[in-house]
Amino acid sequence: MQIKYIGKDGDNSYLLCGEKTAAAECMKKENAEFHISRIKENLAGAELDYIILNSVSPYNAGTVSALTEQFKGAKIVASAAGIKNLREMLNRDFDYILAKDNDVLDLGGCSLLFKILPNLPWTDSMASYCPEEKTLFCGSIFNAENGYYEKYILPFSDYAQNASKRLSELEINAVLPAFGDKINDISPFLKLYGKPAERSDSAAVFYASLFGNTREMAETVCGVLNKRGIRTRLFDVYASGEAELKKAMDTCAGFAVGTNTVNRNADRKIWSLISSIDMISGKHKPYIIFGSCGWSGEGIYCAEKLLRSLGMRQSAKPAAARFTMSDTERAELCAAAEKLADDILNQLGGK
Ligand SMILES: Cc1cc2nc3c(=O)[nH]c(=O)nc-3n(C[C@H](O)[C@H](O)[C@H](O)COP(=O)(O)O)c2cc1C
Repeated sequence: MQIKYIGKDGDNSYLLCGEKTAAAECMKKENAEFHISRIKENLAGAELDYIILNSVSPYNAGTVSALTEQFKGAKIVASAAGIKNLREMLNRDFDYILAKDNDVLDLGGCSLLFKILPNLPWTDSMASYCPEEKTLFCGSIFNAENGYYEKYILPFSDYAQNASKRLSELEINAVLPAFGDKINDISPFLKLYGKPAERSDSAAVFYASLFGNTREMAETVCGVLNKRGIRTRLFDVYASGEAELKKAMDTCAGFAVGTNTVNRNADRKIWSLISSIDMISGKHKPYIIFGSCGWSGEGIYCAEKLLRSLGMRQSAKPAAARFTMSDTERAELCAAAEKLADDILNQLGGK
């Protein structure tokens, strides 16, 4: 069997030629002409029998439509979720074979064994292993790009561990991804994916403050959490970079968000921080909201609505202060912070 590279510039596709032929992975839509001509050239008059999609992302499925027009007999092979997604992308019928876990597709002289490995990072992801060539077509599961694991895979760490375990059973000499460089040694990837995600035991308090009133509230929350034995970091959203804030948000066990009210709205950096929350790994995190206002005080309720709409777990109702904190407002804030501490500690206890 031959495996021919038919992609370009890291937008990868591979042609497998046994008695039957298959294109593994497609390319971005703008590469359709190129993709078709490379397949035709390499088939030298033979038919294309299968189009294997290990992940049905708009990029990876970009040339499917053109390919099925050109190679009328080609059947698409993807996971059940992949077929469903592709139907939504193409909005028309197409011939397909549903790849189920451990199914084998015989190409005559070589074969593909399918491993359904969802959520890495697409819901429909799978890998196709060619035992005769000891080669794994991995779609978007592995990528040699720096930071790929942290950015795309880490939120699905349970699925990554499962993939690592299942793929360790195979003898793999080469990994061919849908995008980026070929991976010659899969072992560091299997090691990385096999690592359980570290669960944080710390909290983060974020605030936006013009005159220091919300900052004072933030420091008060920090004090309560620290007293309860929860390591807590304080972030002025204007003094910290976006990446630093996102990392703190993604890695904390629970958090507090403080915003003042300016022109009947929450601070824009607080909106932005909330919109950066990774809801895959973050949906169980407890939080509270607090903030100083002058008269109408919409800021904290805007933040509350947004966090609630994400389905996050609010430990206590928002704590407000009119300008500087009164004793009563301080007591209410401390009570909310205590509830947050309870929820964080309960969650950690349930590790
Ligand atoms: C330009 C500007 C607009 C404001 N708009 C509102 C508002 O719409 N509603 C409100 O309750 N307070 C408003 N305030 C008052 C602030 O929310 C209040 O001073 C608060 O204590 C500021 O908290 P900070 O010191 O944490 O920034 C406004 C303040 C400024 C400077």
